[in-house]
Amino acid sequence: MNKAVDQDLANLIEADRNHVWHHLTQHKPYEDKDPLMIVKGEGMRVWNQAGKEHLDAVSGGVWTVNVGYGRESIANVVRDQLIELNYFAGSAGSIPGAKFAKKLIEKMPGLSRVYYSNSGSEANEKGYKIVRQIAHKRYGGKKHKILFRDRDYHGTTITALSSGGQIERKAEYGPFTPGFVEVPHCCEYRCQFDDASDYGVKAAKEIERVILAEGADTVGAIVLEPVTAGGGVITPPEGYWETVQEICKKYDVLLHIDEVVCGVGRTGAWFGYQHYGIKPDIVTMAKGVASGYAAIACTVTTEAVFDMFKTNSDDPMDYFRDISTFGGCTSGPAAALENMRIVEDENLIDNTNAMSDHLMEGLRGLQNKYKVIGDVRGKGLFCGAELVMDRQTKEPAPESMLAQIAADCMEQGVIIGRTNRSLHGLNNTLCLSPALISTKDDIDEIVAAIDNAMGRHAVI
Ligand SMILES: Cc1ncc(COP(=O)(O)O)c(C=O)c1O
Repeated sequence: MNKAVDQDLANLIEADRNHVWHHLTQHKPYEDKDPLMIVKGEGMRVWNQAGKEHLDAVSGGVWTVNVGYGRESIANVVRDQLIELNYFAGSAGSIPGAKFAKKLIEKMPGLSRVYYSNSGSEANEKGYKIVRQIAHKRYGGKKHKILFRDRDYHGTTITALSSGGQIERKAEYGPFTPGFVEVPHCCEYRCQFDDASDYGVKAAKEIERVILAEGADTVGAIVLEPVTAGGGVITPPEGYWETVQEICKKYDVLLHIDEVVCGVGRTGAWFGYQHYGIKPDIVTMAKGVASGYAAIACTVTTEAVFDMFKTNSDDPMDYFRDISTFGGCTSGPAAALENMRIVEDENLIDNTNAMSDHLMEGLRGLQNKYKVIGDVRGKGLFCGAELVMDRQTKEPAPESMLAQIAADCMEQGVIIGRTNRSLHGLNNTLCLSPALISTKDDIDEIVAAIDNAMGRHAVI
């Protein structure tokens, strides 16, 4: 690099240090060291400000860049769309909005309406507002409570956090929005019953217990991740979803599935819920919908839910009185449409399933080698390894150990994830969610980096 470029970069690092408030970051260390800046991406790889290359095993840090970096075709359709029409409020339709909705609904039998906004939190809040409004329209406001599950996460705004089951994420942000009630988790490895037989059914029946305790006439919906992401990559136990579905039906509780992480291929199906034969009433999605090339989120509902908002067309209040300014940006659906074409044309869902087997095999190999790995779980290219100090007692490994492993991998040029200040004492899962374009060589490189790091930091 020549001197002028060096100086430009130094100035930019200074600008970042002095003016940018990074997400989820304690800034004190940046007084003595440079903040991390990621400045370029191509395929599975990103480069930092010093030009160091990294293999990204977490798709942009937060399971987002599903089709990989540097996709010119997405950039081109977004550019063309911005020149044609960048924006108009979502009370009107748009060409990419109509095209993407049609394409999306083809992948989601049983659902029929797409409401656009621009973050996972917002998409979930739309779902909650739909439930609340139905409660008022049909049940005099009574059936307004929304259940959520311990260890799940649904977003960052105060109401989305109110529906979050990750206690450390909520610390210092209360008081929370009323009307959200927690149900127990379904992590089989952390079975909460004396008798672990039939775990999935038992864990689901806990939902029924809570509904009855609250009063079924007060519970309007339950929001659940198909596979819990940031709460420790928790795959549902056998029998769980069938029982959840029965309970929802029995008590007239709407089933809201949060596909913000799982949606659009991540788990090896178009949507995570499709592995389990679930029939949701509301589905939300964001991250992988356009792989981070544009901001887009969708709240998708059945026609039955949608129909409830047009029963009294003479009543001036009888429609979904919600708006999202940037839900009207046309770049979102334009990028999402091209993103979906790529997933289809490049057979990325098949690749996800094939690479998932390879990744799980690699992680199980590490589990045989390192006693510290208590459990390996995952679905598609979405895997976790839970670390424990003792396989018998399952005492969780300290968060500091996971931080060291992740930092060591970073040093080796591989970016991995981990549960992060989410749950008291249970921030002990390493998380992997490489892009759906991963090859065997990429997976081998990721597993080898973890192997090296564990050899140095995870000996118990
Ligand atoms: C399952 C789940 N839902 C919702 C959200 C919130 O999405 P966003 O950060 O786009 O608001 C997240 C973010 O990580 C998530 O993991």
